Amino acid sequence: MRKLDTLKIILASSLLLGVMASCNSDKTTPGYTYMDDMYRSPAIKTYEPSIDNPRQTSSLTPVEGTISRGYIPYDIPNTNEGYEDSKSNTSVPVNFSTLDPQEGKELYGQFCSHCHGDKGDGNGILMQREKILGIPGYGRDRLPDITPGSIYHVIMHGKNNMGSHSSQLNYDERWKIIKYVLKLREDQSVMVAEATAAK
Ligand code: HEC
Repeated sequence: MRKLDTLKIILASSLLLGVMASCNSDKTTPGYTYMDDMYRSPAIKTYEPSIDNPRQTSSLTPVEGTISRGYIPYDIPNTNEGYEDSKSNTSVPVNFSTLDPQEGKELYGQFCSHCHGDKGDGNGILMQREKILGIPGYGRDRLPDITPGSIYHVIMHGKNNMGSHSSQLNYDERWKIIKYVLKLREDQSVMVAEATAAK
């Protein structure tokens, strides 16, 4: 009887020892496993040299001509000719005609009004404090020939003292602002016309 008990203890402790020995304090490895490649596919680390592809690295660069989702390329260059060309660029988003100008109001307040003024009269806070000069109002008297295309161009590339806003605004946001600028332009043009009529 005694002999059997001792045997049981030896058996139990060697089992425990076996279990513990198969554990591993290194949390990044699974410990001892049999036929591990059958249930763990080898993961390739980023930039790990890999001979299986032509570029010899696990990180592949995108195929030439790839553009990221939601990115709309703009090809008109940042030159005087480009600016003139942009005036006749009529490519606008499909929903542009039905877009509610008010949708761009908040964005305009965040990105443009400190220079161009809440009303688009060119008298924003930076103009009042003379931090930046030469900011035009949007009325037809100041900017007779701007078009949605040219406003888009100026947002993308900037113009003289106005910097580019292409990195701050995505495609949809730019067009929302343009719609709102066109509304301000109407308001400004009416105001100027009334003021001239009153004189
Ligand atoms: C830092 C001040 C500043 C900010 C911010 C600014 N602008 Fe301007 N903007 C200017 C100045 C200065 C000009 C005049 C550029 C010139 O013709 O010399 C200008 C010109 C323009 C014109 C007329 C360009 C033309 O065809 O002559 C438009 C349209 C315009 N801005 C729209 C915007 C919009 C939309 C925003 C917001 C996304 C904006 N601006 C933000 C300073 C600013």
